[in-house]
Amino acid sequence: VEFSTVRYSKQFPLKDFSPESCLLIFDEQLLKAKAGKKIIQRFPLKYKVKAGEKLKDIKAFPKHAESILKTLNDKNTKDLKVIALGGGSVGDFAGFIASVLKRGVPLIQVPSTWLSAIDSAHGGKTGLNAGGAKNQIGTFFPAEKILIIEDLLSSQPQARLNDGAGELFKIALIEGKTLWKKVSTLQTLNQKNLWKLLPEAINAKYKVVKKDPQEKTGYRQILNLGHTLGHVIEATLRISHGDAVGQGLIFALRWSHERGLLNEKDFAEIESSFMFKEFEQKLESSLKKLNLTKSRSGLLMDKKKSQKDSLFFILLKKPGQAVRQKVSVQDVINEVMRQKAL
Ligand SMILES: NC(=O)c1ccc[n+]([C@@H]2O[C@H](COP(=O)([O-])OP(=O)(O)OC[C@H]3O[C@@H](n4cnc5c(N)ncnc54)[C@H](O)[C@@H]3O)[C@@H](O)[C@H]2O)c1
Repeated sequence: VEFSTVRYSKQFPLKDFSPESCLLIFDEQLLKAKAGKKIIQRFPLKYKVKAGEKLKDIKAFPKHAESILKTLNDKNTKDLKVIALGGGSVGDFAGFIASVLKRGVPLIQVPSTWLSAIDSAHGGKTGLNAGGAKNQIGTFFPAEKILIIEDLLSSQPQARLNDGAGELFKIALIEGKTLWKKVSTLQTLNQKNLWKLLPEAINAKYKVVKKDPQEKTGYRQILNLGHTLGHVIEATLRISHGDAVGQGLIFALRWSHERGLLNEKDFAEIESSFMFKEFEQKLESSLKKLNLTKSRSGLLMDKKKSQKDSLFFILLKKPGQAVRQKVSVQDVINEVMRQKAL
């Protein structure tokens, strides 16, 4: 398995590309940002999409595939590369396209949201949604390069920070050590401190991915910390992915504590962090709205399902030590009920 190169720069390194041999798949939203527009204008071969889960819907895929082939027309595609410019939904979609277009062409990820810069652009997972559940159809297709561009990321509105915060909180808990120390002592989160933490957060993800690139041993599943309930919250309450993951993390942390995995001292330290408090309030309001029947079917669709009615849930022993435990869907529901009553 080859590993991607991550490059950090202030602006898009246009001089490293011959735009004629690239197909740029980009989020139309980026036409509104100076940094985005500047990149888009330089590529003659491009395909504009609307970001979001609908883009990843398998039902919309055939049309997209045909339009993309039309865009390519009779261009010589021998040296073609796909550049994904956008957030996680665009990266997952364009990554899937790159993995199957002409049986696979090299991919370059240019994440434009904090969430995608920290997480989804790295590690090679592509995904489409099917049967009402996320990422059921997908490939492992690592980008040859990931370009992290400061101007592009800073063009995001403040509201998007929260999505990045969920994944940053997650990876810091998985990594432990200095990254966790830095994240746990943050007093606030803004574009500046997030930008500074990016390289450490990204390296922490690669450390996990390198041990199990294609999720063969199951070790990589620890990256799903916060995701099992997070996905249910995201799908049933229509909350953005990063926000839902942040809330799912609180659920997983409280459960780890309740099961005696996470000791009092470590839990108290986590609980006192600014990030925990932010997401805890949100989880409380989501739990009130969660419909348990819908949650049950959402949990049954979980791709980490190990057997009928049971699944692997990721819990935390301490910062730096996430573990997989087999639990039943009913165990999760019982814990949701317990936490609803807290
Ligand atoms: N492949 C993986 O390993 C992986 C990991 C985590 C999440 N994901 C996927 O990522 C997706 C969520 O990522 P996301 O939150 O980046 O989603 P997204 O692509 O839907 O972007 C969120 C919103 O931000 C807007 N946006 C993007 N860049 C912007 C910019 N620079 N300025 C202003 N607005 C901008 C988009 O138009 C959209 O409205 C989900 O589909 C999730 O399943 C994948």
